Amino acid sequence: MRISVIGSGYVGLVTGSCLAEVGHSVTCFDADEEKARMLREGRLPLYEPNLEELFLRNRKEGRLSLAKEAAEAVRDVDAIFICVGTPPLENGDADLSAIDRVARLIATESRSSKLVVEKSTVPVRTGQELKRALAVYGRSTAAAFRVASNPEFLREGSAVEDFLHPDRIVVGVEDGQAEKQLREIYQPILEGRFRCPVHPQGCPTGSAPAFVVTTIASSELIKHASNSFLALKISYANALADLCERLGANVEEVTRAMGLDPRIGPHFLGAGLGFGGFCFPKDIQAFIRLADRVGMDFRLLKEAEALNNRRIDSFVEKIRRALWVIDDKRIALLGLAFKPNTDDIRFSPALKLAERLLAEGGRVHAYDPKAMEKARAALPGACYEADPYATACGADALVIATEWPEFARLDWEKIRDGMSRPLLLDGRNLLDPKMARALGFEYESVGRPEGDSFCASA
Ligand code: UDX
Repeated sequence: MRISVIGSGYVGLVTGSCLAEVGHSVTCFDADEEKARMLREGRLPLYEPNLEELFLRNRKEGRLSLAKEAAEAVRDVDAIFICVGTPPLENGDADLSAIDRVARLIATESRSSKLVVEKSTVPVRTGQELKRALAVYGRSTAAAFRVASNPEFLREGSAVEDFLHPDRIVVGVEDGQAEKQLREIYQPILEGRFRCPVHPQGCPTGSAPAFVVTTIASSELIKHASNSFLALKISYANALADLCERLGANVEEVTRAMGLDPRIGPHFLGAGLGFGGFCFPKDIQAFIRLADRVGMDFRLLKEAEALNNRRIDSFVEKIRRALWVIDDKRIALLGLAFKPNTDDIRFSPALKLAERLLAEGGRVHAYDPKAMEKARAALPGACYEADPYATACGADALVIATEWPEFARLDWEKIRDGMSRPLLLDGRNLLDPKMARALGFEYESVGRPEGDSFCASA
């Protein structure tokens, strides 16, 4: 099918590149001229594993093109995926102005019927508003519009993998025709019929993705409900961590045993600095606001959000207790991205922590494998070092703020010898406390107080 993708951010670029990869003819468009120019030059405005190779190869092989003009991206295609940002407004509502602008563009530029697919994360009822907007803006054109919801479940750092090997594909439709078209679009993924850039030796055998067909409202709700539940799990794990520190228990041993129950599952029970990124914080806010608007006080989510917002405060207190005074202390910070394997610093707990330490007079020296450029622009007050060892040199304390796997493989004796005090505060429980303490570090982490874990007697 001929498909266009409006919006070339994390979701749009992954969607466009993957749909081209599985055989469709895709046109991408972004209204941001700077981003569009970078893409035309073959440079991606963001880092996502496997994405650059996918984008460049599909452009070269002619399945992926970039529209210079908005009209070009709309006029002759069968389906249009809306992948524009829906950031939080001051009051926590999702800002849908970009969606409205795209609806106007589609309605005024279309010359034939279109399937219009909302892939951006939107509050329930957006689909109905979109449908109405297309009808109102498009009253002068003969084009008919069919609206569908197809929420993305892409995790940054594994978005290409998540798109090509999803657990489930959810579509919210109003009629069988839209279902048929979406099934056709996703057929190669449903059947696993495509060469996979993530698994060149062949896609992992596993169950085929579920293709869930429901109404537009239910489909929109599935997205918010899923993300908010994952955020709830994380806040529950963080509450357990605080309890473990008071009771002398080990949160990792507790959550590991909990996760053995398939009804609970082992994932997203990781205690630490809490959740960030451009999804959980804004989705949980939008969901709370949506519930408020229909007369339901979603206190459960409000507490999960409040608990998450306290994570940085309590970790700063942990640092202060260890340092006594933060002012004028040199603090090494490993990790700035909101999670490993991405350069994204939006709503990053690591960046929030760096801001707080600077505000208290700490001299922050930071390093991140991918997010340096974006962090330097967002937080000019910190010093940015070339590698973890330079970052740790002369530090009074070292904080692990993002659990990049490469940090676990560092020469921690060399780190220790370079520091002015061997004080290590692990905000993401990346390291083994026994190893760290055996190396002579004063080591603190989250929910794993000293003498907490069982070790077989010698
Ligand atoms: C999330 C959802 O996972 C994805 O399905 C949805 O489409 C978009 O939002 P993403 O925001 O990219 O994806 O990252 P994710 O891996 O979910 O992590 C979100 C945040 O939770 C990160 O800050 C991460 O550090 C934190 N986290 C995750 C924890 O603190 N503990 C955990 O156990 C897992």
